[in-house]
Amino acid sequence: MYESISILKGNIVYSKSLNELEICEHGYLVCEAGKVKGVYRTLPFEYGGLPIEDYENRLIIPGLVDLHVHAPQYSYRGLGMDMELLEWLETNTFPEEAKFKDLEYAKRAHEIFVENLRKGATTRACIFATVHRKSTLLLMDMLEKAGLETMVGKVNMDRNCPDYIREASAEESASETIEWVKDVLYKKYRHTRPILTPRFIPSCTDELMEKLKMIQMRYELPLQSHLSENPGEIAWVKDLCPWSEFYGDAYDKFGLFGVDTSSIMAHCVYSGEEEIARMKENGVFIAHCPESNMNISSGVAPVRTFLDEGLHVGIGSDVAGGSTENIFTAMAHAIQASKLRWRLQDNSLKPLTVEEVFYMATKGGGAFFGKAGSFQPGYEVDAVILDDSRLRHPQSLGVKERLERMIYLSDDREIFAKYVSGNRLF
Ligand code: GUN
Ligand code: FE
Repeated sequence: MYESISILKGNIVYSKSLNELEICEHGYLVCEAGKVKGVYRTLPFEYGGLPIEDYENRLIIPGLVDLHVHAPQYSYRGLGMDMELLEWLETNTFPEEAKFKDLEYAKRAHEIFVENLRKGATTRACIFATVHRKSTLLLMDMLEKAGLETMVGKVNMDRNCPDYIREASAEESASETIEWVKDVLYKKYRHTRPILTPRFIPSCTDELMEKLKMIQMRYELPLQSHLSENPGEIAWVKDLCPWSEFYGDAYDKFGLFGVDTSSIMAHCVYSGEEEIARMKENGVFIAHCPESNMNISSGVAPVRTFLDEGLHVGIGSDVAGGSTENIFTAMAHAIQASKLRWRLQDNSLKPLTVEEVFYMATKGGGAFFGKAGSFQPGYEVDAVILDDSRLRHPQSLGVKERLERMIYLSDDREIFAKYVSGNRLF
């Protein structure tokens, strides 16, 4: 009966809610069949005699969730950032993504992305691939093998991009998407799921969006896209969809904005009252991508408002808008950006706290996957063991202070062990 039970011991830290950080020093995380049974200060009698994986004075936290990242953009992270979104897409993104038509190139590039994602603290991610069906599938094969829990999308684009990357018609984009979904179903992945991925409104004709809704309903797919990231983009959407009340309404009119379609919208830097109200009403998840928003001069999203309104908010690296897949770094950026927004733009919106960014990067984003991102009973066992001994300090520090330092100072060298859905990856 106890065969599927495992017990991890260490300094356990997880979020119960936005402002409640639970800390159990030298505690026990008891897991059964890949799910959390409980966190205990002293091991309950019934588990006595079972083997314990003792991580001693290290930290044990839920795995981090990257709610928005572009796998094919990993190759040019840290490059070509002196532009705004639309010029950046034309100059950097489209030429690079076009290379993924070549499966050999895709393999070489995706290997680097997948290996680095596996080594870090991220256990779950929602990932954009490219328009190419076969290289998207190849990426999914690699992620499945790596053991990460991911949702991956073949991108749809049938307008407003160069010929060399544009899908020839709405018809072709839709039929390739159906072929891809069928291929994915045939593969019977355990950790890798398809997610519909219209790049953003400017890239997809109305006809394509209507077809994607049909595909969404037929296969009950979730959806990811971009929203209200940049002023030029928003003005363009107004031109392209004069019938929409606001940018998010354009997705909503096609039935692709939360209702009956679990949806993630990345950025939301310029979401106004109506858009925020609609996202709340429809249960849309927001992927906050602070580093990307700084790098391509988009701005700072009003995350405090999203949280006050009770919206679902997670954190995204948005590589290559963001330069790193490290979600700890994204958490630090979220705090830093919120401080500048508070000081320079709107002093009624208080900066984010350590508790809040930790929540967003774990339980907040994890909710898109179901019960993931916490150690409350019934949650998936995604756990990262952090060894902070490299980052020496002369004074004594409590567990919360050590977690805070991980947000600002850690990299892969601090990742001592990692579990995803109860499986130990390393
Ligand atoms: N909007 C449409 N495509 C993209 C992309 O690749 N990155 C970002 N940051 N925004 C987008
Ligand atoms: Fe993006």
